[in-house]
Amino acid sequence: MTDYRRLRVALLGAGAVGSQVAALLRQHGDELADRAGARLELVGIAVRDPDAPRDTELPRELMTTDPEPLLVGSDIVIELMGGIEPARTQLLTAISAGADVVTANKALLATHGPELFDAADQVGASVYYEAAAAGAIPIIRPLRDSLAGDRVQRIMGIVNGTTNYILDRMDREGADFADVLADAQRLGYAEADPTADVEGYDAAQKAAILASLAFHTAVPLDAVHREGITHIDKQMMDAARSAGFVIKLLAVCERLVGAAEDGGDAISVRVYPALVDREHPLASVHGANNAVFVQAEAAGNLMFYGAGAGGVQTASAVLGDVVSAARRHIAGGVGVGESTRANLPVVPIGQMTTRYQITLEVNDQPGVLATVAGLLSEGRVSIATVEQTPMGDADTLAVPTGEAAYRGTGTSRLVIGTHTAREQDLSETVERLASSGVVERVVSVLRVEGD
Ligand code: NDP
Ligand code: HSE
Repeated sequence: MTDYRRLRVALLGAGAVGSQVAALLRQHGDELADRAGARLELVGIAVRDPDAPRDTELPRELMTTDPEPLLVGSDIVIELMGGIEPARTQLLTAISAGADVVTANKALLATHGPELFDAADQVGASVYYEAAAAGAIPIIRPLRDSLAGDRVQRIMGIVNGTTNYILDRMDREGADFADVLADAQRLGYAEADPTADVEGYDAAQKAAILASLAFHTAVPLDAVHREGITHIDKQMMDAARSAGFVIKLLAVCERLVGAAEDGGDAISVRVYPALVDREHPLASVHGANNAVFVQAEAAGNLMFYGAGAGGVQTASAVLGDVVSAARRHIAGGVGVGESTRANLPVVPIGQMTTRYQITLEVNDQPGVLATVAGLLSEGRVSIATVEQTPMGDADTLAVPTGEAAYRGTGTSRLVIGTHTAREQDLSETVERLASSGVVERVVSVLRVEGD
């Protein structure tokens, strides 16, 4: 057996991901040593309760509630506790002691990433975080390394498995949001408090991380426009399906050429449920899977697909980072470093342009369509398609005669597809439609993505 140099590896957290990382480090020690060029010696595992049951068998003597000796005496520190504190302080301590750090903590990176990267720069260390966006899917390294010679134009990601599971079942089975959410909780996809997933916070953190990397710009979390999926219902799903779309919660990170005030490029980073054409590769991402669709100037369209969560799946990405960190540690020199040299401005959502599908319930009377069309025209929203369907049970919809034939049968559903419009124009127009007297209800307004 090759007599490799030993690197001391410390683990902070041994939950769903951490316990799998510890197990794999021990099970595949020889292989990892060959790949890393160093033997990775797990020197300690910091947890809250060393005697709590674990998903894998871990040596009791490695468990500790005192992380300090691990932080200052290790070559590589893996943080898998989650949350902001004490993860932030402990990683800063480890970095200043010269360790390379590996983390899957998207909440921490999206809020304190630049602080960690700066600290690492100062001592020539590196921060690795492949598992922080889209779990097992290699997307950080492709954006940082493989596409370093290209220019990313757009990323569209399904980066939250829980919401994809919910929307997919609503689409394919006609299921209700609340019922599928309960199943997602029972299956362990969604937490008891599902807010971070269903309100888009988790996806927004991942969007901030991906956009920062792709556009060489530190994108703060509060610059990411965020909407969740709790308002999506069966009617919206039906309207989407009959128009040839599927609804997906998307993280969209986009370069807007020449959109900055000085004429340079700007970016937009947004998370919302959007209509995706059923022919688009993202439409076929089912269940709790994740996928990231990247459009780059030279490379064209690239699709990264797989498990966005799960203890052992995420552990794969973490271990890839550990091997990279070990190689760097052996090779010496300065760390990977984050590039924020482009520093592109982030455009507010109101200035964004996309296509929309507006679904309205209207009084079926003469002049209603003309009023709706007039308000859209005044609001600089151009109509691309219109579909009108009388509402009610088809069997009971009698063909009207006499005065009724002139007035129509009551209420109709109007599904309007627009050409590209500015978000602010669109939302102001929808407000005017809602109070126009001819619209009984604005059923939904959804953006169309993926052109
Ligand atoms: P868990 O909640 O399952 O595990 C957290 C672990 O950290 C536990 O072992 C816990 O100790 C320990 N811990 C928490 N707080 C402290 C503290 N203050 N001091 C010491 N130990 C602490 O989390 P996951 O494994 O699910 O997630 C870990 C990280 O990975 C998070 O940042 C998460 O966002 C990220 N991630 C998770 C994915 C997943 O599928 N689970 C997917 C992608 C990323 P104890 O067990 O004693 O309570
Ligand atoms: N809760 C996340 C999801 C997994 O549903 O995708 C961790 O990021």
